[in-house]
Amino acid sequence: MSLHISVMLNEVLDLLNPQPGFTYLDGTLGLGGHSEALLNKTKGQIDLIGIDRDEKTIEITQNKLSSWNGFKAVHGRFSEIPKLVDKNSLSKPLGGVLLDLGISSFQLNSPVYGLSFAEELFDQPLDMRLDKWCKFSAAEILNNWTEKQIADLFWDYADYKLARKLAKLIVQNRPVNRIGELVELCNLVLNKTDPRISFSRTEGQPHNKFQNKSQNKLSTKLSGQQKSKLNTATLPFMALRMIVNDELGELEGGLQNVIDWLEPDCKIVVISFHSGEDRVVKNLFKSACLKSNDFEILTPKPLIPLEAEIKKNPRSRSAKLRALLKKKKSNK
Ligand SMILES: C[S@@+](CC[C@H](N)C(=O)[O-])C[C@H]1O[C@@H](n2cnc3c(N)ncnc32)[C@H](O)[C@@H]1O
Repeated sequence: MSLHISVMLNEVLDLLNPQPGFTYLDGTLGLGGHSEALLNKTKGQIDLIGIDRDEKTIEITQNKLSSWNGFKAVHGRFSEIPKLVDKNSLSKPLGGVLLDLGISSFQLNSPVYGLSFAEELFDQPLDMRLDKWCKFSAAEILNNWTEKQIADLFWDYADYKLARKLAKLIVQNRPVNRIGELVELCNLVLNKTDPRISFSRTEGQPHNKFQNKSQNKLSTKLSGQQKSKLNTATLPFMALRMIVNDELGELEGGLQNVIDWLEPDCKIVVISFHSGEDRVVKNLFKSACLKSNDFEILTPKPLIPLEAEIKKNPRSRSAKLRALLKKKKSNK
């Protein structure tokens, strides 16, 4: 199984500064890297509730961290924290909340979700849903939305320069070949950047008009040039994943719910990987401080990973960390 390296772990520990006798909430549990570090740092003398929208992830991490008595995994979305976690029934008071947005490397590299354009996953369905509550799959978007809607999605969510051209190609292609698998989107993306390159599906399955019939199976290793062309697929893939999982809506509603739900003397730490997400976090933190003196922003500028971390884990390069404190009630 592909490992996930937790991003900005030291910064999270410094800011949350977990103390024995408190409950911490990890709203994006993933494979539990941050949660385990909080448990380790306090020698297990905290309660830790980990929430994740992905059932498979919950199952794996529940098993992985089951030896910690205070650990509990809960399946759900962080926007539902107030419903999922009854503050009044906590046996230790709330100390802080962590949100580490996006997806884990495990999800990216697993064939189950259809999230990656890694060549060995090419013939997987283009799905991208992290949970059963998502309204539509990525394939449904590409087959049913108008050209303008698809172009706006690629542009608004990912600043993808070829948004209009790719949307046009998708809409032209789909009456002939419904877009159902990763390989079809990859070929359309590549056709926009270099029409000479295309990939075929696993042998025995039909080819579409963008594919060269003489090509080998997908297991054929891609050349460096093909790989770098394929990297341009990162942006439309990210845009699709974000809309399928309503990631911005979830963050906007969810973070506001968490801010309203926070207890005095509690912190919330959020790590985002996309400028749109960071803007939402910044604005919600600012407006909490404008509405009430109870809040204080602990990171006037977002923290970013150190060079050494980016070198070790290139996935961390776009991370931005912001933290908000709900202040202690004064005794006046
Ligand atoms: C970047 S990973 C978290 C990695 C984790 N912090 C670690 O160190 O192992 C993000 C996780 O959040 C989950 N997730 C994303 N959006 C969510 C949401 N709205 N509610 C609950 N979980 C969510 C994903 O399924 C994924 O497992």
